[in-house]
Amino acid sequence: MTEWLKTAVFYEIYPQSFKDSNGDGIGDLRGIIEKLDYIKELGCNAIWMNPCYDSPFKDAGYDVRDYKKVAERYGTLEDLRQLFEQVHARDMHILMDLVPGHTSEEHRWFAASSQKEPNEYSERYIWTDCWYKRAEGFPYIAGECERNGAYILNYFKCQPALNYGFLNPQESWQKPIDHPDCMATREAMIDIMCYWMEMGCDGFRVDMADSLVKNDDAVKSGTCRVWSDMISRVQEKYPEIALVSEWNNPASAIGMAGFQMDFFLDWFGNGYNLLMRDYDDTGRDDSFFKKDSGRSIQDFLQEYLPKYEAVKEKGLYCLITGNHDMVRAAYNLDERELKLAYAFLFTMPGAPFIYYGDEIGMRYLQLPCKEGGYTRTGSRTPMQWEAGRNYGFSDADEALLYLPTDTDGAAPTVEEQQNRPDSLLSMVRELLRVRREQEAFGRHDNLQVIFAEEGKRAFAYQRDDLIMLCNPSGQEEKIPVGIENTDVIYQIGSARPEGGGSVLEPQSFVICRK
Ligand code: NOJ
Repeated sequence: MTEWLKTAVFYEIYPQSFKDSNGDGIGDLRGIIEKLDYIKELGCNAIWMNPCYDSPFKDAGYDVRDYKKVAERYGTLEDLRQLFEQVHARDMHILMDLVPGHTSEEHRWFAASSQKEPNEYSERYIWTDCWYKRAEGFPYIAGECERNGAYILNYFKCQPALNYGFLNPQESWQKPIDHPDCMATREAMIDIMCYWMEMGCDGFRVDMADSLVKNDDAVKSGTCRVWSDMISRVQEKYPEIALVSEWNNPASAIGMAGFQMDFFLDWFGNGYNLLMRDYDDTGRDDSFFKKDSGRSIQDFLQEYLPKYEAVKEKGLYCLITGNHDMVRAAYNLDERELKLAYAFLFTMPGAPFIYYGDEIGMRYLQLPCKEGGYTRTGSRTPMQWEAGRNYGFSDADEALLYLPTDTDGAAPTVEEQQNRPDSLLSMVRELLRVRREQEAFGRHDNLQVIFAEEGKRAFAYQRDDLIMLCNPSGQEEKIPVGIENTDVIYQIGSARPEGGGSVLEPQSFVICRK
């Protein structure tokens, strides 16, 4: 595994909303450069930046019009080059967002592909051979151009699927994955990765990484073969490249495809979702980290552990505070609950990912859809740096802002939390400092659950010489985990040894070193 990943802590930046340096109401690359010291001081040494490429922004930039061009609203290629340089000058790393499964319908490849005369790009996308023939199981579009065929979508209507082939082609228009036309798509994607690596980026977060090969099998063996080929070829030139997949199947992504990291994604009702986002419209919330929830950590562990065990020697199965596709963590959890949840996320194996603003508990806002965000829009609002005009995000008139800011009088800001020792921000900083200092956190194959029981709220786990005890409930809880002869190196609330076990205060999280 790429060495620096072992101690990496990522900060996700949604560039639209982080910092506007030129007063046009939208965040930009120079704004990010201004705030690198903040990110570093927070304790993050790596960045994942959402797409910053030229785009019509029908899906916030995940509809790429030109993979090699920086969107004007974010700045210039030179700004991006400087961002890479400034990141490295601080001993940090940065991943761009690679969108390999689809382009914007405005990409020049698609314009060429839509032509009725055959050309170099005719098979770059997946077309049926006649306009009324449908690609079963896939959303498709016909009636938009003269080419006699329908094309498959990968996500929104504006995002036609690139052609990496079919695992078992059934129709003449379905190509096997090693067909020269599909190989040409791979070559194009390799070329794009190399282009940005040459420019100085350190790797990619890969969008919908599992979506490449169509009619793939359950473990996505076709897509894995494609990735394994693309990754190994890019690695020949850039052995240090770091890649994290949006996949949520580490056995495939890390075990077979060759990614070093995969995310535990938030899917309704899954193990990750139950930790912090298990709520419904009735106001019921049974998230594990809610004080009054009845949930035990087993619901998370049952799904997490087998997936973790499958790849723990090979790569990182990563936990996130949130991302641009999810409701913010603070939507459900109050400050104390957030502290406990973060303490857990940041002491588990894998590289943690902090979504911008989650470190201060930025709220989820009910907002109308912007750039294809739909319900995700409310998690994409301007970063709240300080009190006053637009929270220090931008000097623009309010009406020009990319999205409205949080008008709540109690909206959190970096400024307010920066020097307050009991703030969420201070907690995140302190815990990340502890994380940096302990070697056990730099190894990722060392997780042992030492106490977790159905029906019990408190639990404990160990990583080499470190024991983590957590009680998310509102009551004191006793667990059979001894902590005599250990030093407490971090605590929210406290734990005391009792009768060979330990008693955890309500809503506590304690790290002891043996
Ligand atoms: C996942 C991205 O995170 C999301 O924002 C986007 O809309 C889809 N993929 C489509 O690219």
